[in-house]
Amino acid sequence: MSVQPALAVHGGAWDIPVDWLEAHRDGCRIAFEAGWKSLADGGSALDACEEAVRILEDDPTFDAGRGAFLNREGDVELDAALMRGDTLDIGAVAAVRGIANPIQLARQVLEDGSHIFLVGSGARLFAREVGIAGCAPAELVVPRELDRWKQAVEAGNFRPDSAFGPSQKKGGTVGAVARDQEGRLAVAISTGGSPFKRVGRVGDSPLVGCGFYADDELGAACCTGLGEAIAKVVLARLSVEELRGDQEPEAALKRAFEVLERRVKGLAGVILVDRRGRIAVDFNTPHMAYTFRDAQGRSGSAPDQGE
Ligand code: GLY
Repeated sequence: MSVQPALAVHGGAWDIPVDWLEAHRDGCRIAFEAGWKSLADGGSALDACEEAVRILEDDPTFDAGRGAFLNREGDVELDAALMRGDTLDIGAVAAVRGIANPIQLARQVLEDGSHIFLVGSGARLFAREVGIAGCAPAELVVPRELDRWKQAVEAGNFRPDSAFGPSQKKGGTVGAVARDQEGRLAVAISTGGSPFKRVGRVGDSPLVGCGFYADDELGAACCTGLGEAIAKVVLARLSVEELRGDQEPEAALKRAFEVLERRVKGLAGVILVDRRGRIAVDFNTPHMAYTFRDAQGRSGSAPDQGE
């Protein structure tokens, strides 16, 4: 029996400057359309999420793939993950250098199935084994991020949470959640982490339950924001768990954000789809970039025109 598909993609939650709203809106829309076409053609939720996130990784507007933040050594280190809600299979990679699309590598980890999470040089080794070509690390560095890194080195006192304040030209983590025509749920996520992070720092994004979670019995969630706080409350799993008892997704996210704010004063955005294909988006930052269409025909996108 076929059901209506649902898809949400996001491009980060923070104080996006006015002259950057359009790039965020367009980037999310283009990724959404590719993912939606895949679902409409009968593709799996996992394929749709991977496709949407791969497109967002290729867009230098966002903190993922090319255009990601640089770490303290001036290098790009990337994290990505995806999860199937039917089997609970996971593929995740972290602190990977010289891979343009870490979401494709995470997919190979999931398909291989012998492990769920590979990091650093081990992930690179696995990429070679499965035929994913590496790139020169410098190919992932854009002038905007090189300038930010130079300023941080000169200032000598960069705080990661300052990047969530006003007028910072930066990208955000990207992600997608979906339900396909067979009713299966999935999630995918990709990030360059936080600006000027320590070498080897890993945030919430590739940590199961923290940045992402999918379970066909409940729902699928994908987070963005400052990863240290998100991880402390295991925000993706918390959001999915709040769906128990067929709760409305909006109400589930309200309760999850209440915990995030009360316990760790976290700043975040979350997209959530439940097993009926209902979608909710919530964030406690000034803006969040997203596009969605749910199984009931509701759709939305932000930042809005003129916002
Ligand atoms: N949410 C992305 C990170 O903190 O790494």
